[in-house]
Amino acid sequence: MTTVFLNDAFMPMEDAKISPMDRGFLFGDGIYEVIPAYNGKLVGFAPHIDRMNEGLALVGIEFKWDVVKWRAVCESLIEKNEGDNLGIYLHVSRGTDSKRFHAYPENVPATVFAYAFEIPPANVPDKIQAKSYKVATTEDLRWQRCNIKSTALLGNVMHFQHGFERGYNETILFNKNNEMTEGSACNAYIVKDGVIITPPLDNQILPGITRLMLLDILTKHSDIKVEERIVTMDEVFSADEVWLTSSSKEIAPVVQIDGKPVGNGEIGDVWLAAQTLYTAHKTEY
Ligand code: PDD
Repeated sequence: MTTVFLNDAFMPMEDAKISPMDRGFLFGDGIYEVIPAYNGKLVGFAPHIDRMNEGLALVGIEFKWDVVKWRAVCESLIEKNEGDNLGIYLHVSRGTDSKRFHAYPENVPATVFAYAFEIPPANVPDKIQAKSYKVATTEDLRWQRCNIKSTALLGNVMHFQHGFERGYNETILFNKNNEMTEGSACNAYIVKDGVIITPPLDNQILPGITRLMLLDILTKHSDIKVEERIVTMDEVFSADEVWLTSSSKEIAPVVQIDGKPVGNGEIGDVWLAAQTLYTAHKTEY
């Protein structure tokens, strides 16, 4: 049985009900997070809660729980649900209004929903055991506020479906200038001549927590050079390695893009070094 959290109470998934007038349902008017937990230990908890609070502030949802309250909810979900490797989904919508009206309603409490779902085991820094990704590419046609982790994900869903229908694991997106933005549900990187390069944080991409942690770990614990700068489509197709990161994928090595091999078509040495460091240090966040 899956136990979920809805508006201050834990209950079986079947009993969790929200009104069709909830603005999350009608407008995708909400903010969400996905926090990984391996063997009961949350990874990146504080930065995930910080990002959620920033997202809520950016869209004007007046709701704030402190980290102690969020942690209690997350840890209870881990305790009440089965599985060694869980993603904790947190969702705060602007709440249930009496009518469908675009303007933000006043005095309507936010709807809070959280549940736990199984995710793959944490990556092992081993080229043989690692899952290699094959991806499609397409033009990034989402909105211009991709830095907000909004529950309105239809743009991302359509881009993911583009790759999925073609038998790919993900879709890497490029803006109108043929610059890489990110994946439909992850951040994206290239490696060239030993340097890790990833697009800078701006309105075109989500400030990923795995990205934040990875760049911090690399800076603190290695001499590997990292550049945050524009990455062109030509650079992607001539890269030695391409990676994706997200909370449930950690660092995912991409070996094929649109049917063409990345580098020599095999998982690279820089991936191995980066995943080894990430595995060693991720629980410090
Ligand atoms: N996706 N970019 C996009 C568009 C994302 O949806 C995600 C995460 C990321 C990576 O963020 P993080 O490292 O904080 O997980 C980047 C989540 C997991 C999802 O929607 O399920």
